[in-house]
Amino acid sequence: MKHLIDINDLSVEEIDKMIEVAKDIIANKEKYSHKCDGKILATLFFEPSTRTRLSFESAMLNLGGNVLGFSEASSSSVSKGETVADTTRVVGVYSDIIAMRHPKEGAPLVASEKSTVPIINAGDGGHNHPTQTLTDLLTIKCEKGKLEDLTIGLCGDLKFGRTVHSLISAMVRYKNIKFVLISPKELEIPEYVKKDVLDKNNIEYIETKNIEEYMDQLDVLYMTRVQKERFFNEEDYIRLKDYYILNKEKLQKAKSDLCIMHPLPRVNEIATDVDDDPRACYFKQAEYGKFIRMALILKLLEVE
Ligand code: CP
Repeated sequence: MKHLIDINDLSVEEIDKMIEVAKDIIANKEKYSHKCDGKILATLFFEPSTRTRLSFESAMLNLGGNVLGFSEASSSSVSKGETVADTTRVVGVYSDIIAMRHPKEGAPLVASEKSTVPIINAGDGGHNHPTQTLTDLLTIKCEKGKLEDLTIGLCGDLKFGRTVHSLISAMVRYKNIKFVLISPKELEIPEYVKKDVLDKNNIEYIETKNIEEYMDQLDVLYMTRVQKERFFNEEDYIRLKDYYILNKEKLQKAKSDLCIMHPLPRVNEIATDVDDDPRACYFKQAEYGKFIRMALILKLLEVE
């Protein structure tokens, strides 16, 4: 049985195959509408979510299956002291596959060790968010036509932004990828990502505080929210929260085919005047999330 805890649980071949399935789902939705008849997805969300939980639920419903679950820890028996491992073991009796989001890093991994059904990490603390990464890869593939030979700008909270960590881990496995890491000093990418992922794979990267400095070289600009919920004190959050606000003016030197992405939710790091720019892909990105999650459910349930 396969779980998805870290994006590296999937080989490049498996990811590429899932992207092809997702593209086929987009083109032939009816063909997939009964693939999961009789199957149940459980969504165990111990942290808030709009896109991830609802796109998982929409994905399973669009495959003909059913969904159950909870969207906050307080409505589950975890509030009475039950462990995540016990909760997962029990929910596995009621469902065929589980998507779990948890504020503690490693919680989905712990859950997977005792689970009788596939576990999907739907975001664990500031660590990983592999299904957002699958969403991002499908978005880049559809919008740029390739996953190689790209210069990718990652901007904002690179320290706590789990989507950034997972995306870097995935993209380093494709050819000729360069990164421009744009953040204030306090929100720089963690050392372990630099050492164990970027340096280990001989990936070219530049660090800068200035969002406009390398704008003309970017193929993809991936904006992120400053992760308020991961800060230890509010003062630091208030000081850093408005550090980057992407607007039309800052895009003046950008390529005409730049792909502007954001995992969402957005607070104010992209001004709404960018939303109508044809290069703004972030709402399309949220839609791609449903199709790649459909492909993932099919894979983990071994449905042909
Ligand atoms: N991108 C993402 O994980 O969004 P949600 O927190 O709304 O699920």
